[in-house]
Amino acid sequence: MSLAPVDNSLVGRMLAVDLYTDNGILLLPQDTIITSAHVQLLQKQRIWEVEVQQLLSEGTGEQITTQLLELDADEETIAAYVQALDKTRSLFDQVSQNGTPHLEQFSDIFCEVAEQSMKQLGLFRSLYVLEGADSYTYRHSLNVGILCSLIARLMKWSEDRITFMGTAGFLHDLGKMKVPKEILLKPGKLTEEEFTQVQKHTIYGYEMIKEMVGGSELLALCALLHHERLDGTGYPERRNGNDIPIECQVLAIADMFDAICSDRVYKERTSPFEAAQLLWKEACNGKLNIEIVSQFVRYIALLYVGARARLSNGEEVEVILIHQDEPMRPLVRRSGEFVDLRYERKLTIEKMIG
Ligand SMILES: [Fe+2]
Repeated sequence: MSLAPVDNSLVGRMLAVDLYTDNGILLLPQDTIITSAHVQLLQKQRIWEVEVQQLLSEGTGEQITTQLLELDADEETIAAYVQALDKTRSLFDQVSQNGTPHLEQFSDIFCEVAEQSMKQLGLFRSLYVLEGADSYTYRHSLNVGILCSLIARLMKWSEDRITFMGTAGFLHDLGKMKVPKEILLKPGKLTEEEFTQVQKHTIYGYEMIKEMVGGSELLALCALLHHERLDGTGYPERRNGNDIPIECQVLAIADMFDAICSDRVYKERTSPFEAAQLLWKEACNGKLNIEIVSQFVRYIALLYVGARARLSNGEEVEVILIHQDEPMRPLVRRSGEFVDLRYERKLTIEKMIG
């Protein structure tokens, strides 16, 4: 709980206490998610400060550092990630207040953390063990950038293309800064109209990147088309197959993977193994590029050899061996005995714990 000034920065935050007028009439109940209309109402009532909850998915740099240190990630990498997260927050906030920073400002922040994360796979593994740390859009942007450059590397693309994909991933959701926070942070299901508003982030992103000094058409297209699906069921243009540039197909995979794995305001987190399985299903259903997904899924699974995980029955196990044919159902060890998840179909890896 913290005291916050009553201005537009309050939009999307949650009230920690009931608010009353001077006459004792209830103005806004505790747990209200504040909208810009509420801000005006409070200002009219001459209320200049209110007690708000920490955002559900928000955390401080310090919390993240502590959690990463406990996970044995390299200190230099942690510092780079936390610093990049701070800088991302202030740069993205600048965008939401109508400034359009130069492309270089984004790529400078991203390159630092990308370099570190490539050297240190420990960080990558830790990204999905962290509990409720930091607000979603900033972290999602960094993570998708890291994932995109990783996939480009797996596909043996040139260094220039790898760098491009990192930046494209980092900027893909920039348009969300123009979507009202109360919709983005709304717990529970969105109405049809709200969902239409959220979908517009692709178009906003395209326009913002096109305007940006140093931005390119392909970079802007990556923001526009990252929710398109190969079978034409995506948005905003319902493009099919090869009408979706390969860069956007990579972005769709990275975006979906991080969205599934991360903490959301309204959704329980899924383990990278389950996320990989879902990606594979989407690829088999003709929505995602199956060649890219299969390389990515295999790589993700290999990364978790030696990691500890919790199974769907609550047991803690260690990931021992990744099978070529079914990387998402590895051989695991539980207190002295081995379990092959290929033959224990009812069990899934629910959560990575270290
Ligand atoms: Fe998006």
